[in-house]
Amino acid sequence: MHRMHLRAQTMASPRMFLAVGMMMMMVIMHSPMVIVGDKIGIGVCYGMVANNLPSATDVISLYKKYNIGKLRLFDPNPDALEALKGSGIDVALGAKNEDIPSIATSTEGAESWFTTNVLPYLSNITFSFISVGNEAIPGEFANDVAPAMSNLQAVLNDHNLNGITVTTAVATMVLGVSYQFSPETKGALADVLSFLSIKGSPLMANVYPYFAYASDPDQVRLDYALFTAKDPVVVDGNLSYHNLFDATVDSFYWAMEKQGVNNVGVAVSESGWPSAGNGGFTTPELASTYNRNFMQHVLNMGGTPKRPGAYIEGFIFAMFNENQKPSGIEQNWGLFYPNMQPVYAVF
Ligand SMILES: *[C@@H]1O[C@H](CO)[C@@H](O)[C@H](O)[C@H]1NC(C)=O
Ligand SMILES: *[C@@H]1O[C@H](CO)[C@@H](O)[C@H](O)[C@H]1NC(C)=O
Repeated sequence: MHRMHLRAQTMASPRMFLAVGMMMMMVIMHSPMVIVGDKIGIGVCYGMVANNLPSATDVISLYKKYNIGKLRLFDPNPDALEALKGSGIDVALGAKNEDIPSIATSTEGAESWFTTNVLPYLSNITFSFISVGNEAIPGEFANDVAPAMSNLQAVLNDHNLNGITVTTAVATMVLGVSYQFSPETKGALADVLSFLSIKGSPLMANVYPYFAYASDPDQVRLDYALFTAKDPVVVDGNLSYHNLFDATVDSFYWAMEKQGVNNVGVAVSESGWPSAGNGGFTTPELASTYNRNFMQHVLNMGGTPKRPGAYIEGFIFAMFNENQKPSGIEQNWGLFYPNMQPVYAVF
């Protein structure tokens, strides 16, 4: 993920969806915290930039032990896919950024990627999403993202796989000033959004209130970042915001509207809080508070002030602390240590 320095000013939080909230609480009282299987439920990103992680089989057992019904994979790792067979876990599968050009070149290129990375697993894994790249816009492959999405969609259509949503994941950095996409991302995103709009599919976005808070703690209130503010912190016209997460998601909606796109949702492909690496800004307690509240926020299905009631897909980043990332906070996003002990209790 990239750090993003979201301007603090922007935004703020939703109405209370009491009825829905209470219904969800009743559901939750009678079932595991994470609702498995169907569309509702939190996911966790299975990142692998480490040399000390458990075997993929053990990792998938850990997902099952904690009833985590959705998993995001950044690339089609064969061991992970093998272990996921028959697990009942919904998989959001990523295509690597480096693979985007060959998928974009031709339907044959897309078919070849599909044949290697999806087809062998189709009878045993439910794929919810295929994400063409992670934070590939802006970047050297940016203009290939939309063509790659179209080619993959054509392949899925040929195989009658209309349950798999093709999209791409972007960083909050794609937002520039004044609720618009930044100049260097606008062109590539216009093509992506036009594809998503026709399909009615969401854009995936990596949303990290932590970075906004940590980069400007004098301006960004901790309770606003952690979903714990009791009253609106930012009021924007007739929209009032209790948390920075909603404000960030709504910035995407504003930016899409500026591009003339009104029917594309946001699926949060990463969010989280590091448990160490930056002193008092990164403690297990803060990380636990953020991730619990993030999870509850997604499960409440309240949407955001700008799009009340919209269900927002949500994935926590990440399952494990990853020791081959840059030192400091980057190594400390995990819910679990590599020995599979929780860093803090979330579930
Ligand atoms: C995969 O699916 C096939 C066909 O339904 C089934 O025979 C096989 O047992 C499944 N394998 C696993 C590991 O679930
Ligand atoms: C909020 O304001 C916008 C324009 O600023 C307006 O279109 C919308 O109807 C308002 N919504 C409510 C609920 O007042």
